[in-house]
Amino acid sequence: MASLLLLQTCGWILEAGEGAVANVEFENVYKSFPARQNKKDKAAQAQLENTKQSSRVSVLRRINLSIEDGEFMVLVGPSGCGKSTLLRLIAGLEELTGGNIRVGDRLINQLPPKARDIAMVFQSYALYPHLTVYNNLAFGLRRMPSKQEGLLEQKDNADAAELAEQITDAVTQSLPRSMQYELEQERQANALRQALLGWADRTLAAATRSLPKPLRHKPEQEQEIEARIRTVAEMLQIDHLLNRLPKELSGGQKQRVALGRAIARNPQVFLMDEPLSNLDAKLRAETRAQIVSLQRQLGTTTIYVTHDQVEAMTMGQRIAVMAEGEIQQVGAPLELYNRPANRFVAGFIGSPPMNFIPVTIQAPALVLHEQFRFTLPDGWPGAVASHDRGELLLGIRPEHLQLGPAATKNLPMRVEQVEALGSETFVVGKLLGTEVTLQARVEADKPVTIGDEVWLSMRLEKLHLFDPATGLAIVPEG
Ligand SMILES: Nc1ncnc2c1ncn2[C@@H]1O[C@H](COP(=O)(O)OP(=O)(O)O)[C@@H](O)[C@H]1O
Ligand SMILES: [Mg+2]
Repeated sequence: MASLLLLQTCGWILEAGEGAVANVEFENVYKSFPARQNKKDKAAQAQLENTKQSSRVSVLRRINLSIEDGEFMVLVGPSGCGKSTLLRLIAGLEELTGGNIRVGDRLINQLPPKARDIAMVFQSYALYPHLTVYNNLAFGLRRMPSKQEGLLEQKDNADAAELAEQITDAVTQSLPRSMQYELEQERQANALRQALLGWADRTLAAATRSLPKPLRHKPEQEQEIEARIRTVAEMLQIDHLLNRLPKELSGGQKQRVALGRAIARNPQVFLMDEPLSNLDAKLRAETRAQIVSLQRQLGTTTIYVTHDQVEAMTMGQRIAVMAEGEIQQVGAPLELYNRPANRFVAGFIGSPPMNFIPVTIQAPALVLHEQFRFTLPDGWPGAVASHDRGELLLGIRPEHLQLGPAATKNLPMRVEQVEALGSETFVVGKLLGTEVTLQARVEADKPVTIGDEVWLSMRLEKLHLFDPATGLAIVPEG
């Protein structure tokens, strides 16, 4: 909380993006890589060379996504689905195979990484091992001349400005008249003034370098950098670590320095690629909440990548679920939980995952299985009409199953595993007479033991149906 207060008071130095609108748009983005070739396998290599088509591996397909200015968007999906590749495309670390990426109204496809005004935080932290924390934080700032000039202009240092004014006048008067005239043109005089200001600043710094610290003159750029670093370091509670080397930090501290480096640069967009994966569970949960509140305060558009659906659900304002190089669904966390668009999203979001059972539909609203049968609630008959006598996949979450009485509408299960967590109990087993695994979250005080036969009742208003051929959800009316 202290860090939040600090953020508010120091907001002036960290205002995100200096007012620029930084929405991020992906338009039909494709990415493929040359296939990795096994040099020893000559036959396979020759075959690949013959068939140009198959010598590339498609990693991202048809990526269309609009991220709003200031939004916290999470990209979530299993390992290898293309999340890091998508981030690297935005950062400019990979080249697009097709499509466009825009930040604000700028098409950034062709811009070099440095010109994109984007800061990325990696899982590996990527700190410079030979630099102190302070210099790691300062590194990106010293390499941004255009931004520093911006800072220099903002700085209201009357003394330095006056000195520069005097030098400008003196220099101007010693010039030939024709040049003086030129210099009177406001724009050019200003440019000279800026250059002299920087020169005077550096000369003064060099001349006072050997004096005791309080008497030394610091170039304005360095003063701005230092102020910025102090603010960020206090915000992330790493201000006591500024003189240490990365090897003298814990994993959590390194991770904060990496975050700090991104924040200090005050970019238009933050990209974060699984930044919490190397932390232990407790620290991960804490830092999760901290990143979210930092982002809300800074208001910087953020794209956060994770394979962990709990992280996605707790951090994202919206989540894009990815699988095999394609976006499956985009929505707010509870939208994805309540209305998954397909079987993949249904199984990926929610823990423990949704149960799936193959069933037959008999119009208008009967669901049939050799172990149970029930009537679908209102809204469903119209939606399933075209599937009469067809097979569908019934989906029901563990938290929407309860222990119930023996009844034809309930699911009989042989219990194979009981996990009592104190607050709740997870019961796992097989739907009787089938190989379908079922998992139910039942009340903690219900006595269930391995080998029991129990009946599970479904909350019918919470069930889902999927087309087994396409995986798409069937959506009830109303
Ligand atoms: N430079 C590369 N050359 C070839 N294949 C790559 C390259 N980078 C990534 N890939 C492949 O692209 C796929 C997606 O990788 P990645 O974006 O790292 O996935 P994620 O971050 O979701 O785990 C993987 O199959 C990976 O092997
Ligand atoms: Mg990755």
